[in-house]
Amino acid sequence: MSTLCTLTDRFLLLRPNSLFLLGLFALVLSFAGPRAHAQESALAKEELACLRCHDKVGPGKTLESGEVLSLAISTNAYVDSMHKDTSCEDCHDDIDAKTHGKTITPIKSKRDFALGMRESCRTCHAKNFTQYDDSVHAAMIKDGNKEAPLCSDCHNAHTVRSTKTAGPIAATACANCHEDIFKAYAKDVHGLARVANGKTAPICADCHKSHGVLAASLGNGIKDACLTCHEDSINQHKEWLPNAGRHFEAISCPVCHAPTAQRRVNLRLYDNVAMKQVSEKTGVPQFEKLTLAADAKDMGLDERALWSLLKEFNQEGSEGKTVLRGRLEVSSGIEAHQLSEKSKAIKDCNVCHQKGAEPFQSVSLTIAGPDGRPIRHGVQKDVLTSLLATESVRGFYAIGSTRIKLLDYLLLVVMLGAITVPVGHMTIKRLFKGMRDKLEAEKKAARAPAEGQDSTPHRRADDDTSK
Ligand code: HEC
Ligand code: HEC
Ligand code: HEC
Ligand code: HEC
Ligand code: HEC
Ligand code: HEC
Ligand code: HEC
Ligand code: HEC
Ligand code: HEC
Repeated sequence: MSTLCTLTDRFLLLRPNSLFLLGLFALVLSFAGPRAHAQESALAKEELACLRCHDKVGPGKTLESGEVLSLAISTNAYVDSMHKDTSCEDCHDDIDAKTHGKTITPIKSKRDFALGMRESCRTCHAKNFTQYDDSVHAAMIKDGNKEAPLCSDCHNAHTVRSTKTAGPIAATACANCHEDIFKAYAKDVHGLARVANGKTAPICADCHKSHGVLAASLGNGIKDACLTCHEDSINQHKEWLPNAGRHFEAISCPVCHAPTAQRRVNLRLYDNVAMKQVSEKTGVPQFEKLTLAADAKDMGLDERALWSLLKEFNQEGSEGKTVLRGRLEVSSGIEAHQLSEKSKAIKDCNVCHQKGAEPFQSVSLTIAGPDGRPIRHGVQKDVLTSLLATESVRGFYAIGSTRIKLLDYLLLVVMLGAITVPVGHMTIKRLFKGMRDKLEAEKKAARAPAEGQDSTPHRRADDDTSK
């Protein structure tokens, strides 16, 4: 019925003189009567006044950009929407009844119009708005990015239905912009389980939140979200994986659960005092400048370059403040959404604990950008091993013992940022001092022995877990 209505409306607009169509219209009206009446009584007369002009598919309004802004608002959809009791003017408070529709108000582009409307949701949905304000999406909007979503990109104000019911997965707003990730998700364990069993399995917003979306690799990544549903995961992994908690901290879940993914080491700049990732300050891009200076040929930072870079971040008085924390990740956002059933997950220790293991062949250094997304610079993979050569490091960790070498290297990478673990009396500061000493000693080709190696051989009790 409603389709017929809009169809006739359209015909009327196109060919208003056609007697045949007028006849048809009259016929349709006689059917549409009761429904139209019900709608009218559901809306206040102010809304009906607006809709009298706007519930029509007209030519639309041509904007300065050349785009055409459709002016059609469906009365049916509005009545069925969660905003049926909301007045048009609650959101469109700049409509001047005297001139509206009679004179042309210039509008630059669709995006400009949407941006101009963006504050209109704040008064009634303050909670969602505050969460959104802190999101990576809002940060990008503030930065002038036109691709990032506003409220109205994820919700149509005129047709919004309850978000409580789970629709088909493809209806999620996220899919409009993150198409490749959506396609991967749709085929992975969760996408398939969501289609089969509904809301028990997660969709985008269950792992990333809907409004307070943060950069995915920030902090623990999405780990905490996984553990809200898979509560017993740590215990289940413990059955075969020694120190599962430590593995969970150093490895992003998809590294093992997306078995075909490429993997890489992310050396994150970490602030040991504030206990969080170092982030680039808005307007003062330091990281790119420093990495380019330290790696003029763009070959990837070598040991020396990485060291001098860390020194820049640890100026006088703040030595040891900025450290590196290693983390294993998958190489792309698509791969992070190719999780398989558990039987395919990586269980073989040798995938990682072996000389030349694949995950350690690609290394990058990152800082959190102003919106939280990582800014990267390549690092030569030898850095992972050459750092270890530093004499002073031996002081607090017994190399060799019964473990294979690579494990030592791994431990070192994490040790550099291991602030949750007491490292005896050997502080991070001394670690850096040791590295500095070593580099300087190298420079002068000096043979003087580095710092004593008599200190704490074990950093904690379970350290000598042998393989
Ligand atoms: C909850 C807030 C809200 C209410 C209520 C609301 N609108 Fe809108 N309206 C918006 C937003 C936001 C946009 C811009 C959306 C966009 O283009 O991204 C918009 C856009 C429009 C447009 C431009 C065409 C379009 O679809 O973008 C028209 C015309 C319009 N609204 C008319 C109305 C009428 C008539 C009513 C009442 C029946 C109404 N609106 C109620 C928020 C609202
Ligand atoms: C007499 C018919 C008429 C009525 C009544 C009417 N509009 Fe419009 N509306 C128009 C026309 C025509 C345009 C296009 C104006 C232009 O080209 O600048 C328009 C444009 C708009 C736009 C697009 C942005 C803009 O300013 O151009 C919005 C939003 C809008 N109307 C909302 C409303 C709301 C809300 C009401 C009720 C308070 C309303 N309209 C009542 C005819 C009408
Ligand atoms: C004048 C107050 C008002 C304004 C302004 C407003 N809303 Fe609403 N909104 C409501 C009411 C009332 C409901 C009904 C649901 C409820 O009871 O929470 C609702 C419901 C919703 C829902 C569905 C909630 C659910 O339970 O699933 C969404 C989504 C939504 N609004 C988005 C928006 C967006 C986006 C904007 C800005 C374009 C906006 N609203 C502006 C009053 C408002
Ligand atoms: C990136 C997409 C996205 C953006 C941007 C977005 N939302 Fe939502 N919103 C969702 C999704 C998905 C849901 C349903 C899942 C849920 O409840 O978290 C939702 C649910 C809601 C609800 C109903 C649930 C609740 O928490 O009450 C309201 C109201 C709402 N949004 C309003 C807003 C407002 C206002 C804005 C702008 C500040 C906004 N949304 C921006 C995706 C988005
Ligand atoms: C089961 C939880 C889960 C679901 C469901 C999920 N994601 Fe993710 N998402 C992740 C994880 C884990 C990462 C990688 C985080 C890390 O680096 O450790 C990620 C990363 C991302 C990234 C960053 C990619 C990059 O380039 O680094 C985006 C964007 C993203 N997800 C969007 C989505 C969208 C859109 C959907 C829905 C189609 C979705 N996610 C569904 C867990 C999930
Ligand atoms: C209007 C388009 C749009 C919509 C809708 C949208 N996003 Fe985004 N989102 C972007 C853009 C653009 C970026 C920045 C480029 C990128 O990282 O992909 C981004 C970035 C992200 C990031 C950070 C990526 C990183 O590197 O860590 C996550 C996570 C994310 N979106 C999740 C979501 C989720 C979840 C939804 C749905 C609730 C969603 N997005 C809806 C456009 C959108
Ligand atoms: C070192 C690789 C590795 C890492 C890291 C890892 N997993 Fe697993 N996970 C596995 C393997 C292998 C299995 C299958 C165990 C079995 O079937 O015996 C598994 C099983 C599971 C299962 C099925 C539960 C069960 O045992 O029945 C879930 C859920 C799961 N993992 C979630 C996670 C989450 C969440 C994370 C990140 C916090 C994570 N995993 C990190 C390798 C890993
Ligand atoms: C909203 C709850 C929810 C969240 C959040 C969630 N999962 Fe799941 N997960 C499920 C459900 C439901 C299934 C399918 C049923 C099952 O086999 O347990 C599943 C299945 C799995 C499986 C396959 C288990 C098997 O038995 O083969 C793995 C692996 C897994 N999830 C890992 C993760 C990881 C990693 C994250 C975070 C990035 C995550 N899940 C986030 C609910 C969730
Ligand atoms: C996906 C790569 C990966 C796989 C698979 C893996 N590990 Fe690890 N493992 C790591 C990383 C990275 C660390 C560094 C964590 C640290 O130093 O705290 C680590 C640390 C360890 C440690 C030291 C933990 C501690 O107490 O500090 C032991 C022991 C270990 N792994 C044993 C194993 C065994 C046994 C298996 C096979 C059952 C295994 N790992 C599978 C990557 C992996």
